[in-house]
This record gives sequence, C-alpha cells and structure tokens, in this order.
Amino acid sequence: MSASSVFAGLKPQAPDALLSLIGLYRRDPRPEKIDLGVGVFRDDVGATPVLASVKAAERLLLEGQATKAYLGPEGDIGYLDLLKPIIFGDRIDHEMFAVQTPGGTGAIRLACELLKAARPDLRMFIGVPTWPNHTQILDQLGIETVAFGHYDQRAQRLAFDEMMAALETAQAGDAVLLHGCCHNPSGADYSLAQWAAIAELVARKGLTPLIDLAYQGLGLGLEPDAAGMRLVLAAAEDGLLAYSCDKNFGLYRERVGALYTLTRDAETLDITASNIRALARTNWSMPPDHGAATVRVILESEALTALWRDELEAMRARVAGLRQALAKASPALAPLAGQHGLFALLPLSPAQVAALRERHGVYMAGSGRINLAGLTPDTIDVFARAFEACLQGEPA
Ligand code: LMR
Repeated sequence: MSASSVFAGLKPQAPDALLSLIGLYRRDPRPEKIDLGVGVFRDDVGATPVLASVKAAERLLLEGQATKAYLGPEGDIGYLDLLKPIIFGDRIDHEMFAVQTPGGTGAIRLACELLKAARPDLRMFIGVPTWPNHTQILDQLGIETVAFGHYDQRAQRLAFDEMMAALETAQAGDAVLLHGCCHNPSGADYSLAQWAAIAELVARKGLTPLIDLAYQGLGLGLEPDAAGMRLVLAAAEDGLLAYSCDKNFGLYRERVGALYTLTRDAETLDITASNIRALARTNWSMPPDHGAATVRVILESEALTALWRDELEAMRARVAGLRQALAKASPALAPLAGQHGLFALLPLSPAQVAALRERHGVYMAGSGRINLAGLTPDTIDVFARAFEACLQGEPA
C-alpha cells in the first residue's frame, strides 16, 4: 500500500464470519452440501420464497403508490403504529416514540448510540453467547460491556442462575441487552416465570433493558413470543425495543426494522425523540421505504393480515417440526425439542465445525450454531449421522 495513501493507517479487518459462510457455501461444488449458516427461513425444498401476502401487498403498492417523496426521519408512521399492538399488546403504560430503521441492526445501532449519548459511561450487560453483531456494534461505539454466561453450550441448556447472579451485580444506570424470543444463537428462551424474575430484577436495580426482538412469531406464536419481554419493559422506567420484520415477513434484503423507545413522562420522551431523530439523520437520514410500506399494506388489510399470520404459522410449524425430528434422529440432539426458532447451538468445537464442513459439506456458523430451517426431510438423518460421527471423533 502506498504510504502516502489516506488509507495507509487502516488495519485490516476480519471479514464477518457468518456472512463469509454464504460465499464459501456457494463455491462448494458438492451437490449434497447442506447450508445451515445464515438465518433465513427455508421451506421443505430449501427455498426462501417471497410470502404470498408480501407479493399481494407489493402489487397494491406498485399500482397505488402516488409518490416517492421523502417520508421524514421516522419513516412510515402507519407501519410503526400497526406493529405496536403486535409487539406490545393492547396495554402500554409508557410514553413511546418509534422510528423505522434499516433492519434490526439499524435499530440496535441507533439504540446503542442513543444510550451512549445519554450516558457516556454506560455499561451494557450482555449474555454470551449472543448474536456476534451485538458485541461488534457495542465495541465499535466504545460502550463498556459486562458479559455474563446465560447458556451452557456443552449441556445445551440455559444457565439461568448464573445469569441472575451476574445481573445482581449490575448497578442503577446500567443497561442490559436481552433477546425477546428465539434466542440467537442458542434457541433457548426464558420461561414466563424466568422473564418475571428478570423484570423484578430490572425494576429493583434500575436497569435499562434493550430488547432485541427479531424472530417474533417463529417460536411459539406472535403472542407467547412477546409475553415475556413485555413484562420486562412494563417493569422498567425506560426501555428500548429493536424490532425486525426481516424474518417474520420474510423481507430479509428489504431491511425492515424499527426502534421503539419507552419513557415514563412526555417531557423525557420529547428530548429523547429529538436525539433519536438527530442520530437517524446523521446515519441514514431517512430509512428506505419499500419493505416497511409492504408491511403496512399487509397490516392495513384484514385479509392480508390473516394470510400473513397463516404463512408465519406455517413457517413456525415447519421449524418446530424440524426440532422434533432432529431430537428423534439423535439423542445428542434431544435438547433441541424444548428450544425455539431457527437456531440451535450445538456442543461442537471450531475444529468439529470445520470437519463437518470439509468432510460432510455441512455449513454452520463457527460457534456451532445451526439454522435448522436449512434441513429438509431428506437431510435430517444425513445431518444427524454426520453430527454424531463428529462428536465421536471420527477417524481422520
Ligand atoms: C443471522 O444471525 O444469521 C441473521 O441475523 C443474519 C445476520 O445479519 O447475521
């Protein structure tokens, strides 16, 4: 590199491991390869089709949209309002401000920037393992993180007591990042009683919850998937909820997210909202329209909403069915039956993950996370046998 280049001082960055897997898989010529990498829903033949409700809404948009003029920093207000009862139910005691964001990632980024601006010395408690981009965003913003274990990967179960003991050390003014449902990467969600205990702790300690809700409807259903996190938000003085429609509406590449900010009084909300608008303005000015408009058109129509709910339920049921099938296929996969959503974190070392890829053509995140939806009726047993062989240290 030329020493006089303005870029000469840059340090090389490792490519995002999960996104690199997409290219690696594509380049593998083996026809029997299995993609359990990035988190997209796939059907029984391995396709990720556009939902019929989305197609219908897009047709309406194409015909009916009269202008492409800017909407403003909040984005599509109808979209944000129509999602509210789905996310929060019919009772909201807080004051609330919402903005549309580019995907759930945009919402998390905005939430963290807001927290950093509000309290430069804020500490974020974060359960590990988590979605790697959480820690990447927090690190990039220079937010101090306090990591706590909440999942035992070897035993494939929640480490709830360990988590609660760690949260007991938090102090008023600290924040905590929680996965609303369908934990990524573990698939291990809290029971309602455990959520209630978290809510009690958050209120007692004066913590600010940041909830990442990216898979609502893919665990037990739209309502049960939100019930636990609602308890935490209701108990907190302030809260933030980062939402994604990328998965439950199958809109991935449209990047459809939202950030909801909750405070106890209108004056605090006004100042907070002005900061969120200013942060959004300097990040992306105004969010892209199409995906959120599509969701709005679906939710404005009773018929399209019913169709979307049916389609979401079909996705949910397929993933739940895969969990049962995997649990039957191998005793080592039995814990998956009691977990939720697209992901499971298998008790595999990075070397075993690499061996599965190289020897068996099975692609998964380096952490041992699989996206169950990448399996089909034909590959469940193939995968289970490869997994068992790896666990048993197959000969080189
Ligand atoms: C995943 O975890 O696979 C998805 O959320 C995609 C992403 O952006 O990482």
